[in-house]
Amino acid sequence: MATLRLGDTAPDFTAVTSEGTLNFYEYLGDSWGILFSHPADFTPVCTTELGTAAKFKDEFDKRNVKMMALSVDGAASHMEWIKDINETQNTKVNFPIVADVERKVSDLYDMIHPNADDTLTVRSVFIVGPDKKIKLTLTYPASTGRNFYELLRVVDSLQLTANHKVATPANWKNGEKVVVSPSIPTEEAKGIFTKGVEEIKPYLRLTPDPTT
Ligand code: BEZ
Repeated sequence: MATLRLGDTAPDFTAVTSEGTLNFYEYLGDSWGILFSHPADFTPVCTTELGTAAKFKDEFDKRNVKMMALSVDGAASHMEWIKDINETQNTKVNFPIVADVERKVSDLYDMIHPNADDTLTVRSVFIVGPDKKIKLTLTYPASTGRNFYELLRVVDSLQLTANHKVATPANWKNGEKVVVSPSIPTEEAKGIFTKGVEEIKPYLRLTPDPTT
């Protein structure tokens, strides 16, 4: 198992999930995807995370992103736990959770970090583009629940920068000014970004979000 890096092809797999046996690539189709692991069923932080993910599904749908969660617990456990998530988080889990009992997917995606825990997956996040390439990875320890606003924010940045010659600055949020790609000279940038280019330094140029 090699470490997966940005730009690598996301490995395909077929796995038992809480919604039956699914093939990852078929499930994604032409959409973007988020594959995220959590350490274990019936644990407090994971319960809040999956409830939050369910509540964010509309926002991921708007961005054409399909979610798939994973833990090394079995499908029957997932089904029982989903009842608790729905009850305690006041939602309805609306995406599949892989039952990776044999750790095949966890191994493919290097989601078990033995120096953190020998057997449980850490909180990995893989964002996959429609081309099945890995666009972003994040890794959190079991003790820290993920920020789903950040996942949406990063999807917004990935999708914007995939289609326009821009990058997004620190703490950027959708709709705010973006950075002109360093490879474009300012004079050329002024022709591309007709809403205006503000040159703070020759290498630091801002322009309004080209999609708004
Ligand atoms: C949790 O989800 O609360 C959790 C899971 C494993 C270890 C620590 C916390």
